[in-house]
Amino acid sequence: MEMGFYFYTACCFLVIFSKASTAVDTLSQSDSLTDGMTLVSGDGSFQLGFFSPGSSKNRYLGIWYNNIPMQTVVWVANRVNPINDSTGLLKIQSNGKILLQVQNKTAVWCANSTARVDNPVLQLLDSGNLVVRDGKDSEPENYLWQSFDYPSDTMLPGMKIGIDLRTGFHRRLAAWKNWDDPSPGDLTFGVEFHGSPEMVLRKGSEKYQRSGLWNGDGFSGTPKLRLNPIFDYDFIWNDNEVYYIYSLKNKSVMSRFVLNQTQSVRQRYTWNPEAQTWMQFSMMPSDYCDKFGRCGPNVDCDGNKLPTCQCLTGFRPRRLDRWNASDYTAGCIHSEPLNCQSGDGFIRIGKVKTPDTSNSWVNQTMNLKECRAKCLSNCSCMAYTNVYVTRGGSGCAMWFGDLLDIKQFQSDGQDLYVRMSASEAGTAL
Ligand SMILES: *[C@@H]1O[C@H](CO)[C@@H](O)[C@H](O)[C@H]1NC(C)=O
Ligand SMILES: *[C@@H]1O[C@H](CO)[C@@H](O)[C@H](O)[C@H]1NC(C)=O
Ligand SMILES: *[C@@H]1O[C@H](CO)[C@@H](O)[C@H](O)[C@H]1NC(C)=O
Ligand SMILES: *[C@@H]1O[C@H](CO)[C@@H](O)[C@H](O)[C@H]1NC(C)=O
Ligand SMILES: *[C@@H]1O[C@H](CO)[C@@H](O)[C@H](O)[C@H]1NC(C)=O
Ligand SMILES: *[C@@H]1O[C@H](CO)[C@@H](O)[C@H](O)[C@H]1NC(C)=O
Ligand SMILES: *[C@@H]1O[C@H](CO)[C@@H](O)[C@H](O)[C@H]1NC(C)=O
Ligand SMILES: *[C@@H]1O[C@H](CO)[C@@H](O)[C@H](O)[C@H]1NC(C)=O
Repeated sequence: MEMGFYFYTACCFLVIFSKASTAVDTLSQSDSLTDGMTLVSGDGSFQLGFFSPGSSKNRYLGIWYNNIPMQTVVWVANRVNPINDSTGLLKIQSNGKILLQVQNKTAVWCANSTARVDNPVLQLLDSGNLVVRDGKDSEPENYLWQSFDYPSDTMLPGMKIGIDLRTGFHRRLAAWKNWDDPSPGDLTFGVEFHGSPEMVLRKGSEKYQRSGLWNGDGFSGTPKLRLNPIFDYDFIWNDNEVYYIYSLKNKSVMSRFVLNQTQSVRQRYTWNPEAQTWMQFSMMPSDYCDKFGRCGPNVDCDGNKLPTCQCLTGFRPRRLDRWNASDYTAGCIHSEPLNCQSGDGFIRIGKVKTPDTSNSWVNQTMNLKECRAKCLSNCSCMAYTNVYVTRGGSGCAMWFGDLLDIKQFQSDGQDLYVRMSASEAGTAL
């Protein structure tokens, strides 16, 4: 009976409390947000407040989906500085600085906004983006600070993952250490740009999975993804920025992209309203050949062949003894030595994921013929291809030295023109 009464009052309190707080999506200078209070975005999609992850008793300031029963945190402010009691307090100062304090004094997290304004306010937007803006100014371009610039482990629609080339500022995801600890694990996801940009999943310093080049229609490593019913995506590369972004095809279907430290994968989940749970929509790496460098240099990873690692056409195992013992790490070398001076050629390998771009070069406007000529004239250029498959093919990507992490597809995939001795390259371009 007593328990029942207690439960009843606690529930009432929660209902009243959440009702009272749904009205508020903005924190101004005179306000503060304490543990137990929340901000809720205007359309009720997201909520900002204090939470304890998993079985941890630590308190963190975070953002989660508001309209589903399973608390799903998409952003954490004090990832590395947990609060050990319920005295956490969030406020925005007149200089635009966001301050998360404990015991009214110790700052556990802060964020500086870029410009001074008369009346800075903190607002939780319907996108799940927490922004500082001038109270009088609602132009998105004028945000003085935004949580989307400092992603945690989750990429939401409208978020840019990539690099601001003007400032060198990186926006990348870092997985939670585990369910109980949102501090950054060693699994990260972002744009890497050495010659040509691509998305890279890293486990510590180890490259773990790459997207392949953006070919205008999608990433070379996931040729069919464009056809999915859930989300549209784009990869923007201009003088100012290079980033990956996605949007939902149907705004009422909730979907999120998240890193998973324990499984070492990036996953996409979609909310299933009937089952009231998140369903895994996709995962990467998803097959043997997705994981970076499964086979050594100049090898084609083909899941439909045995062995899965196959020397590229015109190549032979570098170490036959090891190759015979199923150790493919030494990779392959040209069967016929190249002779750059007296003329090499190229053979076309179809339907592949483009090689690792660590030693690559790209020109977005050159055509395939110009690309071939440029590659041929440089003795260390080992392969080239069109960057964009759209509109009949355009752009030029070239690779120097060993070709790494090529995956074979059965359909789709890009063409790659690989340098050969002229004697091998009878039918080549
Ligand atoms: C809680 O954290 C504060 C600093 O944030 C520290 O001074 C205090 O000792 C901690 N208390 C416990 C019980 O760990
Ligand atoms: C923090 O300061 C406010 C006003 O400055 C005061 O009302 C509140 O009791 C203080 N809280 C703690 C935990 O000291
Ligand atoms: C904010 O600015 C202060 C001084 O202006 C600096 O010490 C601090 O590191 C900055 N914090 C962040 C998160 O940039
Ligand atoms: C990681 O993925 C596994 C398998 O899909 C899942 O059971 C687990 O809950 C995920 N972990 C996190 C932290 O999301
Ligand atoms: C969007 O999804 C909702 C919920 O699943 C569905 O009821 C609605 O018909 C969908 N809208 C479109 C245009 O497909
Ligand atoms: C490797 O296997 C091939 C084919 O079975 C065989 O011809 C060759 O002698 C083997 N070489 C070594 C070094 O084991
Ligand atoms: C790309 O190629 C075009 C055509 O050959 C050339 O005009 C342009 O300067 C090149 N751009 C770069 C950045 O090399
Ligand atoms: C070939 O390309 C590499 C990589 O861009 C460059 O370092 C080298 O100078 C080029 N060699 C010639 C002869 O153009």
